[in-house]
Amino acid sequence: MGESKRIYIETYGCQMNLADSEIVLGIMKKHGYSLTDDISKADVILVNTCSVREHAEQRVIGRLSSFLRYKKRKPDLVIGVLGCMAERLKKRLIEEENLADIVVGPDEYRKLPQLVNDAFAGHKGIAVKLSKVETYDDITPLRTEGISAWITVMRGCDKFCTFCVVPFTRGRERSRPLDSIVKEVEMLSSQGYREVTLLGQNVNSYRDGNYDFADLLSAVAQVDRNMRIRFTTSHPKDMSNKLIQTIAEHPNICNYIHLPVQSGSDRILELMNRTYDRKHYLELVRKIRETIPGVSLSTDIIAGFPTETEEDHKMTLSLLEEVRFDGAFMFKYSPREGTKAYAMGDDVPDEVKVRRLMEIIELQQKISYEINQGLIGKEVEVLVEGESKRSSEQWMGRTDTNKVVIFPKHESVKPGDYVIVRINKANSATLFGDIVKILHEKNLSKNSLVSSLN
Ligand code: SAH
Ligand code: SF4
Ligand code: F3S
Repeated sequence: MGESKRIYIETYGCQMNLADSEIVLGIMKKHGYSLTDDISKADVILVNTCSVREHAEQRVIGRLSSFLRYKKRKPDLVIGVLGCMAERLKKRLIEEENLADIVVGPDEYRKLPQLVNDAFAGHKGIAVKLSKVETYDDITPLRTEGISAWITVMRGCDKFCTFCVVPFTRGRERSRPLDSIVKEVEMLSSQGYREVTLLGQNVNSYRDGNYDFADLLSAVAQVDRNMRIRFTTSHPKDMSNKLIQTIAEHPNICNYIHLPVQSGSDRILELMNRTYDRKHYLELVRKIRETIPGVSLSTDIIAGFPTETEEDHKMTLSLLEEVRFDGAFMFKYSPREGTKAYAMGDDVPDEVKVRRLMEIIELQQKISYEINQGLIGKEVEVLVEGESKRSSEQWMGRTDTNKVVIFPKHESVKPGDYVIVRINKANSATLFGDIVKILHEKNLSKNSLVSSLN
């Protein structure tokens, strides 16, 4: 027996792709492969790709071209393209530009060991069929070390927002059984994980027999009260009162909801097929804030959707002002072939899109800054994640409202501990402060703003 073959993997796109890469590595490890973070030592290079915007695709193509130099040095190196670009670009990647040996879509990862083997023998391979049932339920993901784990609870999307490729790249909605998710959370708890994020393109459509997403959240929250439970993404159409109530009831379900609105204009929301209007969205936000005091909200915005006028754009700005989100992910509209919006043309000139996007970003940054300034002097519960990227003298952690907090290290605190930090400085993205109390275990009150409870 020789040494095991080494895999290097790079992941683009959303958290679901990150979680899928862990599933892929779980599958490959079972077949005797090991992981390397040194690309020059790899026998297999895998790139898990994203198609959501053109820019995301171009980045991957650029990256793949740069791998050809490793291939020159090591001719039997296998290069594999996984994920959302697979179906769309399989021909181009394998036949036309010869950038990959294998192309594997998100529902075909079980075939990967065989395809890689065939590639070592010189046979290229494509597997891009989408499945109505695949959830990788029995696969143990190879997780990167840390205190936080992802679990994909549903795959695919049936919403067909007119701008979005995801229903095409990921196929139909399907859910993983509740029992097996709860078992996985139990295992993660016994392994010392302190945070679990339940993932799906639209977790609110989760369904297992009679169980809905609120039932799943509640079951998962009861596994370990010291474990923080997060989830993403919620669709504003399907956010039930029961779900809001469930978040409010469980101290360890985080006070944070990512609720993509996309636009503030009813005309654009209609063209996007988002199936809700501004009024519904604002009413939902009101209900959420009333039921879950201290909740933090974030959103996604698209600037420059086809036919978007200056007036539509102003509606988006006014919605941002009305809601005052804690944060937002803001994008320039990118036409995707095969989607309904693609047929609507791409009539907003690029410089207009860029200017609108800048206005949206500027406004949101100002709002985030103001909200975070309001936290100065407050004490917040923080789960310590690890060293700050900027300084080895500082820890980085998050509030349960998903705000990043940086604070000086303390010798008896380690990643995975809960601490109380008093905030003394803030910008639009980060809070800074000092530890005032070490909890180790989670504070079992609902609100992360400890000082407001004293
Ligand atoms: N399922 C999630 C998000 C999927 S993609 C949801 O519904 O919110 C993440 C975000 O990318 C979307 O919310 C949207 O804001 C953005 N996005 C998707 N397609 C896009 C496109 N064609 N151009 C620009 N942004 C896009
Ligand atoms: Fe795309 Fe809409 Fe589905 Fe989100 S809900 S993945 S934006 S189609
Ligand atoms: Fe991208 Fe696929 Fe996620 S298109 S955003 S990686 S579902």
